Amino acid sequence: MQYRTLGRTGLRVSELGIGGAQIGLKDYMAPWDPASDASVAQIEGMLDRALDLGYNYVDTAPGYGAGRSEEIIGRVAGRRRHDFFLATKTSAGTWSRGKEEVRAEAEASLRRLRTDYVDVLQFHGGDYRPEQVRHLLEEGPADAYRELRAAGKARFLGITAEEPVTLRPLIASGVFDVIQIRFNVIYQNAYHNILPEAQAAGLGVVVMRPATSGTFPKLLRAACPGMADQCDPYALALNFVLSAPQVSVAIVGTRTIKEVEANNRLSDDTTRRLDLDWLHQRYVQPGEAR
Ligand SMILES: NC(=O)c1ccc[n+]([C@@H]2O[C@H](COP(=O)([O-])OP(=O)(O)OC[C@H]3O[C@@H](n4cnc5c(N)ncnc54)[C@H](OP(=O)(O)O)[C@@H]3O)[C@@H](O)[C@H]2O)c1
Repeated sequence: MQYRTLGRTGLRVSELGIGGAQIGLKDYMAPWDPASDASVAQIEGMLDRALDLGYNYVDTAPGYGAGRSEEIIGRVAGRRRHDFFLATKTSAGTWSRGKEEVRAEAEASLRRLRTDYVDVLQFHGGDYRPEQVRHLLEEGPADAYRELRAAGKARFLGITAEEPVTLRPLIASGVFDVIQIRFNVIYQNAYHNILPEAQAAGLGVVVMRPATSGTFPKLLRAACPGMADQCDPYALALNFVLSAPQVSVAIVGTRTIKEVEANNRLSDDTTRRLDLDWLHQRYVQPGEAR
């Protein structure tokens, strides 16, 4: 496993982390029952193997199965808390809530996660309109986050976005240490528009949906049958994301030891990384043959 620095937090994070949506959501991307004992045992085994291999970043949210992902991760955090950095969120519904509700939601997460603190606490959002930005920054939620940090319950503050450019005023506010954004081989906008700005602001960058939530592999199988046998679309997708040096950690949805091991090997095989500047270059450079 290779490691990177999570922006100004200074945390040395594994470049691949574990995404918690698959753990708690029923039938998300594959048949899955998060309520079953077999699922809990499978995830505990998967997380133990990941931590033993050197993964050290786990991301979850109360929204992943009404707290179920946090409860299952909490079984491992309860006995191996110091082996990894833990990130959770407060829900998108927070927009209409005040400081006390946000704080209560975060404290409920800590109970499910069986810990006194999270390393990163993030607002869980999609895109941000001006009234939401104002609410978040000026009407209580950001104050709740600052108080949770002052109380030692959240070490660093973050925010997540499906549409990264809508984060601009939130990045400019200086409140956040970490952003979690959608960036992958299909959604590449952040490469030009937000990754350089995040780097300039010293922010840690967590990438959600790094394997395109399964869309790219499905597309390749549908459009070019047989091609996925020659070129693993998951490996291609993860190599694409890891080729951006501004990315600190890509949180991959994984439920099996087999995937955790395959992705760990992929992190260490840096020969498959891509030159993203070249990929985006539109004009032939002097002396370049195409
Ligand atoms: N903040 C937000 O609003 C937000 C939104 C979306 C996602 N996220 C975060 O980002 C995480 C990941 O994003 P995502 O859920 O969209 O999924 P993703 O990571 O893009 O893709 C996950 C899928 O990839 C498969 N996979 C992983 N490694 C593989 C391998 N080596 N070979 C074959 N298949 C492999 C998994 O299979 P299995 O199903 O078999 O395990 C899973 O179905 C989430 O868990 C969540 O933590 C955050």
